[in-house]
Amino acid sequence: MQRIETTSSLRAQVKAWRKNNKTVAFVPTMGSLHKGHLSLVNKAKELADHVVVSIFVNPLQFDDKADLTAYPRTIDSDIQKLTSIDCDTVFTPSVNVMYPHGMVTHTNVTVPNMDDKLCGLKRPGHFDGVGTVVIKFFNIVQPDLAVFGEKDYQQLFLIKKMVTDLNLAIDIVGSPTFRERNGLAMSSRNQHLSDDEYDRAAEIYQTLQTSKLQLEEGKLSFSEIEKLALTHLQKLNFDPDYIDIRRADDLERAHAGDKNLRILVATGIGKTRLIDNIACNLA
Ligand code: PAJ
Repeated sequence: MQRIETTSSLRAQVKAWRKNNKTVAFVPTMGSLHKGHLSLVNKAKELADHVVVSIFVNPLQFDDKADLTAYPRTIDSDIQKLTSIDCDTVFTPSVNVMYPHGMVTHTNVTVPNMDDKLCGLKRPGHFDGVGTVVIKFFNIVQPDLAVFGEKDYQQLFLIKKMVTDLNLAIDIVGSPTFRERNGLAMSSRNQHLSDDEYDRAAEIYQTLQTSKLQLEEGKLSFSEIEKLALTHLQKLNFDPDYIDIRRADDLERAHAGDKNLRILVATGIGKTRLIDNIACNLA
């Protein structure tokens, strides 16, 4: 696997592939790779001739400095993992390569109505940081397609909307959430959990599944189901930010009669904040 660290070298490599009529898939990450990330890379490999994975802990999307400093950086083992699954190129730019003139005066991409719902409420500016870095990567890599995890459903929604609104010629492919054996969604943050928290965190997915069953039964209203789920998590000593039933297509609040739904949760457990979501189609 080749490691590329500058924009010009990456552009030259992609240009050479294009000259040979090869297609390119892109998988952006912040490193600390686990099997969830690798499942995206494997999907990308199925869909294109070449795969570029980026590893970049993007300061622009961290509203909390301490969180940015604490973010795990494990570049050597990340490279080993990518090599073991035959990824051909990893792009590891420095902050200076991505933001040579700093971040304060940098042009930002804002997808509207992101900070007023779900994870945007607790993390103001976060989604601007994500949209901005992803469009920069898209312009550097110029892939045919890019793969994102459904685990970060609001992020996947934002990227799809940005690509549609700005007429980018890139297919956005969503990939299912890869889970631990106990159902917990894989996340770089899981390594912060104690053994006890890890076991208890399985309840997040269980709660989503219970809410889904209740939706399918159709006896309770959406808001009753949300309330039950929230109090259930609180009783189990979680510190939930939200558990919401949303319309899958636009992430707006779901109302009776809406069929294509997504149940999304964000919760604290100890000092760690975890997110998860599942689909629920009532059609
Ligand atoms: P990161 O958290 O490293 O995630 C990179 C990609 O892996 C995202 O598309 C995310 O949804 C996906 N992913 C994470 N856990 C997953 C799991 N358990 N199953 C399937 N996919 C999973 O998301 C980011 O980085 C950043 O915001 C980024 C898009 C790279 C922009 O900086």
